[in-house]
Parts: sequence; structure tokens; C-alpha cells
Amino acid sequence: MICDNLTISKDGRHLLFAGQDTVELAKKYGTPVYLLDEDKIREKCRKYKRAFQKHFGPESVPLYASKANSFKRIYKIMSEEDMGIDVVSSGEIYTALAAGYDLSKAYFHSNNKTDSDIAYAMEKGIGYFVCDNEEELMAIQNEANRREIKQKILLRLTPGIDPHTFEAISTGKVDSKFGIPVETGQAKEITQKALSLHNIDLRGFHCHIGSQVFAEDVFERGARVMLEFIAQMKADLGYEAYELDLGGGYGVRYTENDPYLDIDKKVSEVAKAAKDSCKRLGIKLPVIHMEPGRSIVADAGMVLYTVGSIKKIPGYKNYVSIDGGMSDSPRYALYKASYTCLAANKMDENCNFTASVVGRLCESGDIIQENVKLPSSIQRGDIIALCTAGAYHYSMASNYNRLPKPATIILRNGNENYIAIKGETLDDIIRNDL
Ligand code: LLP
Repeated sequence: MICDNLTISKDGRHLLFAGQDTVELAKKYGTPVYLLDEDKIREKCRKYKRAFQKHFGPESVPLYASKANSFKRIYKIMSEEDMGIDVVSSGEIYTALAAGYDLSKAYFHSNNKTDSDIAYAMEKGIGYFVCDNEEELMAIQNEANRREIKQKILLRLTPGIDPHTFEAISTGKVDSKFGIPVETGQAKEITQKALSLHNIDLRGFHCHIGSQVFAEDVFERGARVMLEFIAQMKADLGYEAYELDLGGGYGVRYTENDPYLDIDKKVSEVAKAAKDSCKRLGIKLPVIHMEPGRSIVADAGMVLYTVGSIKKIPGYKNYVSIDGGMSDSPRYALYKASYTCLAANKMDENCNFTASVVGRLCESGDIIQENVKLPSSIQRGDIIALCTAGAYHYSMASNYNRLPKPATIILRNGNENYIAIKGETLDDIIRNDL
């Protein structure tokens, strides 16, 4: 199995997730439904915290990139686990606040924060702005000036590194829409500018290279470029950065072909590269943060669907339709992302029937996964589990075709389960229609 929270019932027939019977959960809550394994989320947070403190030092904190899955209960969990968070909109800030999250531990990203986002975040006491560009720097300065405060910021830089992942989720290259390039000299200019502003407390720098990254040494190269820049700023401007945030992006296992990622080992490798660079450059090691999103929640999640119609087109293709689709699981439609699909109530049967698992939306691209191996007895009413679905599913869900968004059910302690987000009703669908 791709993750250790997937097991099989004693009689061999049912898929268990976080120790609980998925077929029973489908019966209890209906489908489609998102499941989240709270114990796995907490385990990941603790692994990151331990690794950061051990390798980067006691002040280093992992920041959960909440765009991966954002709702009240998860901010509560992050608060209890003493995690920092990365937020990207007033909506995420509002949700975190509603959960009682202490916003002073939050880092506000986005390449285009509006004036009202900036005012709202400051009013609520956001810890840091991760400033993306010069217009934004001035807007933050103006708002901080109006409020007579000194606002902590990091500057987001692009170190010019290709992470070898999907083009749509690469962000660290020089021509990215995010951040300020180091290579062109613009990073130095904005650093100088930030240092000259009265209401700006420049704490350091940030970069994020990409997401679902497995390529060797991407983070190490990122750290080296950023530390060289920090050393350059010390030499040129006499400014020594206090913090360095190396972004998120560690890959997770969607299929058996994806490698396992050892968090402690990965963090230790980045820390070693950073410490070696600091030594070589003659600078202090800044407080280092990273912003894992996917690698905290992805394999803590699953979507359950019920099979509807099955279409066999002899000599061409087979289709197995399920009762959700790209509205709740958009990643195949967007990136052709790979996944593992399992027949959750037929785990004891051989999988020798090849089919495309497709959604119910009126669009040919509404595909969950192609070339899926399923039992040949697959039929209406069977349960399909889409694994590794805890990141960028609910948070990217839409109401396309006016489909209500599914509920999120949290599983914990081997036998408890509770509703963390109610499923939308048809009334919810028309709530804002006048
Ligand atoms: N920090 C920043 C500034 C980011 O932009 C992101 C992700 C992260 C951290 C977290 O990266 P992670 O650890 O989750 O890889 N919708 C796409 C992923 C987009 C990622 C956007 N930024 C997907 O479904 O694959």
C-alpha cells in the first residue's frame, strides 16, 4: 500500500483508512466524501517540528501552507501542535481567526495582495507579510505608517532554480510571476528600498521553488543561492538577514512509483547545505523556516465515491463513472496528476479490468484517473477510494455544474470519526443567488 494508514479488513474485503472501514464510512456519511486522518496530520507536524529543531535550531518553526487544505478545524489542530502557518488571502486569515489561531505566527503570501487584504491582515495583527514586489512593499509601508506600527516582512525572491515538477506549480524560476529575481539585480534594489522605509521591519527573505518536488538537492541549491544573496547584502549594505524561509514543496506518494520521503533526512540535508554555505560565506545561520503543505495533509486524506454507470466500448476503452468528479478532485483535469484508485469493498478480488475512472460532470476532461486496474466485477454501488487526496482537493473544489461540495470527515484514534466540514446542500448552492 502507498501509505501506512491504508490497511485491509480481517476478511480481506474492505479497505481500512486510519484503522476504520471505508465501506462503513461511505454508508454512514454518504458519498462523495472527503476523509482526513487527524493522527497522521499530527504525526507529520511533530516530525517536521522535531526535524527543524534538531537540524535548524530551536527557533525554527515549520509553517503549514494552509492553501493545501484550509478550514477551521485544521487551524485548530495547527494551533494545538504549535505550528506556524502560511496564508494567502483574507479568506484564509478569516478562517484561521475563526478557529482561534494566533495570527502573530502567520506569514501572509500572494503575488497580489489588495489594499483591503493588507489593511485587514494588519488590523488583525498578522505576524509577517511575505512581500512579493515593490508596489506591494509601498502599500504595506503606507498602511503601516497610517497605523503607526513597524510591520515585519520577508521579501520573496526567485533564486532561479527549476524544480522539475509540473510547469503550473513551478515558481522559483527567474521568469516566475512570483517574487523578485536575484539574477537581475532587482532583489538587491528592493532590499535597499525596504531598509529605507520607516515602518518596515525587514526580517529576511523567502523563496518557494515548486511543489511535489522529488528531484535531488533542489532545496539545498535554493538555500545556497539565498545564503549567497544574504552574504552579498551583508557585504554591500551591511544588512544581515535574521530569517530565511525556504518555502514548501516536498513530494508525496500518489502511486507505488513515487519514492518515500524521509522528512528528518531531507531536513538534515538542507540544514547541512545551509550550515556549510554559512561557514564558507562567513555569515551567521539565519533562523530557517520551511512551509510544507502537501506533505502534511496529502496522505492523511482520501475521497470515497460510489460507482454509477459503467461503459464498455469494445476495442476502445472502458469507463467507470463515479458520483463526483473534477469539482471535488480537480488535479487530474488540471495537471494530469497520477493517483491510486482502489475498489474499497472488493479488496480481495483480482484487478484485471482496465478502465478510466471518470466524474459525472458535463465535460470530457472530467477524469479522475486513466488506466485504472479494477476488479472485473466492478458494478453500480461499489465504492471507489481515491488515495492521497488530503491536499489541494477540498481547497480547490468548485460548484461546477452546481454540484455541492462534499463533507470532510475527520478520523482519529482508530475508531472515532466526526464531521469537520458539513457537506453542502442544494440550498447552499443557491444561498447567494438573488
Ligand atoms: N509556500 C508557498 C509560497 C507556496 O506557494 C506553496 C504552494 C507552498 C508553500 C506549499 O507547497 P507544498 O508543500 O504544498 O507543495 N494546486 C497544486 C499545488 C500548488 C502549490 C502552490 N503553492 C497541486 O494541486 O499540485
